[in-house]
Amino acid sequence: MKDIIVLGSTGSIGANTLDVVRRNPHRLRIVGLGAGLNLALLRAQVREFTPASVAIRDTASEWALRQEFPSLTVFSGESGAVDLVRESQAEVVVAATSGMAGLPAVFAAAEQGVRLALANKEALVAAGPLLLEKVRRHGGELVPVDSEHSAIWQALRGWRASDVKRLILTASGGPFLGKPRSLLATQTSNDALRHPTWRMGRKITVDSATLMNKGLEIIEAHHLFNISYEHIEVLVHPESIVHSMVEFIDGSQLAQCSRPDMRIPIQLALSYPERWSGDYVLNNWQNTTWSFHLPDVETFRCLPLAIAAGRAGGSHPIVLNASNELAVDAFLAGRVPFLAIEAIVEEAMSASLPSPPQDVLDVLEVDTWARNQAQAIIRQKAVY
Ligand SMILES: NC(=O)c1ccc[n+]([C@@H]2O[C@H](COP(=O)([O-])OP(=O)(O)OC[C@H]3O[C@@H](n4cnc5c(N)ncnc54)[C@H](OP(=O)(O)O)[C@@H]3O)[C@@H](O)[C@H]2O)c1
Repeated sequence: MKDIIVLGSTGSIGANTLDVVRRNPHRLRIVGLGAGLNLALLRAQVREFTPASVAIRDTASEWALRQEFPSLTVFSGESGAVDLVRESQAEVVVAATSGMAGLPAVFAAAEQGVRLALANKEALVAAGPLLLEKVRRHGGELVPVDSEHSAIWQALRGWRASDVKRLILTASGGPFLGKPRSLLATQTSNDALRHPTWRMGRKITVDSATLMNKGLEIIEAHHLFNISYEHIEVLVHPESIVHSMVEFIDGSQLAQCSRPDMRIPIQLALSYPERWSGDYVLNNWQNTTWSFHLPDVETFRCLPLAIAAGRAGGSHPIVLNASNELAVDAFLAGRVPFLAIEAIVEEAMSASLPSPPQDVLDVLEVDTWARNQAQAIIRQKAVY
């Protein structure tokens, strides 16, 4: 029986993780759940999975949870998730809070020396080397949940770093694949949220529409697999069946394939080094066509912006990530048009950036600085 904490349990990855737990009641036990504002769903999850502790960001909800579940330990506020991770005995922490808000708890989990099943890509993008060092120093392990990184991680099992020629990350292309910039200018948040192959949270779905998501994933892959940016490529694969590939020096390529369903990489992150049965999807390839082509970086400029930030390193990825988060929020709120997202990120990145972070506090300081910059840029571009 593995004891698990799920941070971001009320989100898309959180719900998929709980479904994996539901299907494996003799192997997995929930000891902690972390949520943001969705009290109703968290309540239902507490009733079903009976964790010992929960964290909810909304302090006003703490009392309601205590009233309804007298034996439940409830942490709340900004530091609630960190307290939950520090005070619970878990073997695996699934980090599925969205955005930089998830970073402190990801670091707290790394300090506990547990298995960190990492979905929250923002923590790795903003603080990759610091996070990996923390995991190593405390004797834990980091297992990727993102489908692309899970695919690469699987393909790399048993091979030496010197055997690898390049990593090929696949990208669905998002809902605006093939559209010219003139049409992108008028796309609404409803258009951007209509992803053709994956059902995900709102922020990552917009990142998928701008291709920023693939840029963030390149930075993630660089840190996770310790491979230079020149050896990471992107191929657009609209069917989302090949989740990524590794090319080896002998010319052989290993790919991991399945119909798109996040429960597969989530379950593996929990079951590893075992594989457990799971009838999540029907992988029947008769009469299917799989296509691959290069991304259009002239139309989707967030991808080259992210690669440039990754290559520059230091504070650049933090500023990229923070300005993108605010730009996406502003787009979802209808304050700026779709193409303003890349413009806001580009302008934030062109300022003279703070010095590279030496520790997590520096990362959070640069993040705050970048959010102030981005807010000022958004105010200039906002339609209201
Ligand atoms: N969805 C996917 O298929 C997928 C694939 C790969 C990687 N990822 C990554 O996984 C992470 C989660 O994605 P998602 O799609 O599951 O997002 P989501 O559906 O928007 O869920 C986000 C979760 O984070 C919680 N949350 C947000 N802000 C919080 C805060 N300040 N404090 C505490 N909790 C907070 C939300 O709580 P409430 O809802 O209660 O407010 C919710 O539980 C992201 O980093 C994303 O990039 C997702």
